[in-house]
Parts: sequence; C-alpha cells; structure tokens
Amino acid sequence: MISDRDFFVRDLDDDMPLNKLFDDSKDLYIEIGSGKGEFISQYPQKHLEHNFIGFELSEKRIINCLKKLNPENNPNVRLVRLAIDEKIALLFDEGSISGVFIQHPDPWPKRRHHRRRLFQAAFLDSLAKILKPKAKIQIATDHKDYALWIVDKFSNHKEFVSLQESPIQSDYNLEDHVVTWFEQEQRRQGFEPNFMLYERI
Ligand SMILES: C[S@@+](CC[C@H](N)C(=O)[O-])C[C@H]1O[C@@H](n2cnc3c(N)ncnc32)[C@H](O)[C@@H]1O
Repeated sequence: MISDRDFFVRDLDDDMPLNKLFDDSKDLYIEIGSGKGEFISQYPQKHLEHNFIGFELSEKRIINCLKKLNPENNPNVRLVRLAIDEKIALLFDEGSISGVFIQHPDPWPKRRHHRRRLFQAAFLDSLAKILKPKAKIQIATDHKDYALWIVDKFSNHKEFVSLQESPIQSDYNLEDHVVTWFEQEQRRQGFEPNFMLYERI
C-alpha cells in the first residue's frame, strides 16, 4: 500500500522538471517554506482546480506537514524537501508557474547573514523566468526590516509590480488567507505581519 509520505513527498531525482509531478494540466502554484503545514494543507483544499508544491528544507517540518495532509483531502499537493534559492529556475519550465506563496521566510536579522536571505536579486530573476505573466507572489513577514529589504529588491526589478496601494500593508485583503503557526505566534508576541503582493508583468 502506498503511504502518505510516498504520496506527498518527492525527490528531485527523476522528476525534473517538477511540472511533471502531476499528471494533469492544472495551473501550478508553489509555496516556499511550508513550515508546519497550515497553508499547504488548507489553501489547496479550497482550490482543487489548481496544483500546489510546497518546498520545505527541514525534515522535521516535512513530518509536521504530513500530519496535516491526507491524499483524500489534498490530492493536489506535493512536498519537496529542498532549500530554495535562485536555482529554482532549473526546477521548472519557463513561464509555467501561476503563483507563489511565501509566509514568514527566515529573516536572518544580522547584517553579516543578509546574504542568506531568500529574497536576492538573482532569486527574483529566477522567479521572473518561471512565472507566467500576471502570476502573483504573496509574501508575509513580521520582520519590518526584512519587509523593507524585500520591497527594495522588487522595486529594483523591472519585471514585477506591487499590486497594493502601499507595497507593505498591515491588513490582508485577499480571500482565503491562511493564518500560519508562525503568524499566530508572532501576533501573540505583538509582532504584526507585513503583507506584500507583487505581480509578474
Ligand atoms: C519562520 S518559518 C515559517 C513557516 C510557515 N511558512 C509559517 O508561516 O508558519 C520558515 C520556514 O521556512 C523553511 N525554510 C527556510 N529557508 C528555506 C528555503 N530556502 N527553502 C525552503 N524552506 C525554507 C524553514 O525550515 C521553516 O520551516
């Protein structure tokens, strides 16, 4: 019998490009840093017309995600254990991704660690390659300095535009927002999320 882990978790080995993880042609969305799995278990259930891949680097967190997933409710979800960076462009066909969700990426607050931040110019170049025109990137972080960093990276990139009146908003105006474990924890400690929404031109 196929286990839930076998159903959901994929290696990179034979599956490149990852567009082939699903054998149908539904629009493909990705989440980076799935954490304990709130988003990847809840949001796709409301969007069964789309497929979703969650990337998570930590094995422990992959196990957390698996506890919230089952093939019946989440047939349109797969997980890949991987540290995402600008090499994401090698994983997908060009112009094939319909949207990206990133909630609370690690902020790496110390200046000497800033180069470890996910949002770098080269990462945005890669996203621009794999995203379809009009694809949206939804981001949340409770870390104000990182939010400003992210806005700076996007505003220096000609292939993205902010869809919000102000690039950082404290309230979320999209349907089906999933409050993740990290958002809940940070709010409890008095840190409000900063929401950003960009579109691939
Ligand atoms: C602060 S937690 C947020 C988790 C979840 N998104 C939430 O909001 O609760 C960041 C998560 O991203 C994962 N992560 C960090 N860097 C990553 C990367 N480059 N690629 C994939 N996952 C990453 C971490 O293991 C961790 O689970």
